[in-house]
Amino acid sequence: MGHSWLTGLFAAALLALLAACASGGDGETIGQPPAANGAANKAGVNQKTKQLVIGLSLDTLLEERWKKDRDLFKAAVEQLGAEVDVEAANGDDVKQIEQAESMISRGVDVLVVVPHDAEVSAAIVAKAHQAGIKVISYDRLIVNADVDLYVSFDNEKVGELQAGAIVAQVPRGNYVLIEGADTDNNAHMFKQGQMNILKPLVDKGDIQIVYDQFTKEWKPSNAFENMKTALKANNNAVNAVMAANDGTAGGAISALAAQHMAGRIPVSGMDAELAAAQRIVEGTQAMTVYKPIRKLAERAAYLAVQMAKGEQVSTDKTVFNKKVDVPAILLEPIAVNKANMDTTIIADGFHSREEVYRQVDQGK
Ligand code: GAL
Repeated sequence: MGHSWLTGLFAAALLALLAACASGGDGETIGQPPAANGAANKAGVNQKTKQLVIGLSLDTLLEERWKKDRDLFKAAVEQLGAEVDVEAANGDDVKQIEQAESMISRGVDVLVVVPHDAEVSAAIVAKAHQAGIKVISYDRLIVNADVDLYVSFDNEKVGELQAGAIVAQVPRGNYVLIEGADTDNNAHMFKQGQMNILKPLVDKGDIQIVYDQFTKEWKPSNAFENMKTALKANNNAVNAVMAANDGTAGGAISALAAQHMAGRIPVSGMDAELAAAQRIVEGTQAMTVYKPIRKLAERAAYLAVQMAKGEQVSTDKTVFNKKVDVPAILLEPIAVNKANMDTTIIADGFHSREEVYRQVDQGK
């Protein structure tokens, strides 16, 4: 009796181990907290170590998503018993470096960076390493630097989802590309993903790219100006717009509206901003890409605390940053349009149904 009970226990343990190994190839599960047990983790951290502090250096807090990142990251780190020291540079490279330097001198245990400029921020990594502090590149990759870990979404896939959705609606015609900020490595990855889908159709002669520009600082006002130029240069003969995110989509849609074209041609987006979700249900934006920020923030928080404790972190992927293969965790982005709005963004509580459908409901 006792023997078979033990055998059962052993078999269960083996199964658990196999399950853990089987999940090893999946960026969604690797490097996850062993159990969603904040209290236990909290006790562990407090008993064994001094108060750990994670530095979070943000490019900006002027866009909707980054406030969510900050709040969710802070809450997750605190849940693990550590503290967060946050600074935001609002688009200023010199300021971001200075802020990082002061966090380094304040003695943060790990530095988590959302770089404004992919290249310039390499200086932050060098300075942190001189002080023996590890650096996590959060959402955006720092290039040409010995980054310790990269936690983000599959950004090339984001671009593929955007182009896939727009091509399904407009398989032939004139395309305008309103890309992100040239200084942001993600902007290049989104474009790469879009081109994976568009290039074969361009080569076939089905699609013509009639305008293609990066958007300085990701600013909607710059996207508006670019879209205006694109329309003028083509006498409004534009059939589809690839906009890299919801901010740029908003700018592009305003320019289309000025020509009475809003809602007549599809425009992509990304970030599932509230304004974009509303435009989707109202019909002026075709899609957005929803990136569940909670998952990103919680995963980064867990890994940052692990690193701060001097533990090894494991990843199943690497991403080359022009210098080294950076261990990477890449989460899955989700394409959202009118049809799956309720089962994605709303079901997740990212925005409430009431907020998203406000105008639609009022018009009834
Ligand atoms: C990107 C990020 C997007 C968007 C954009 C503008 O790097 O992945 O989600 O927010 O920056 O801030």
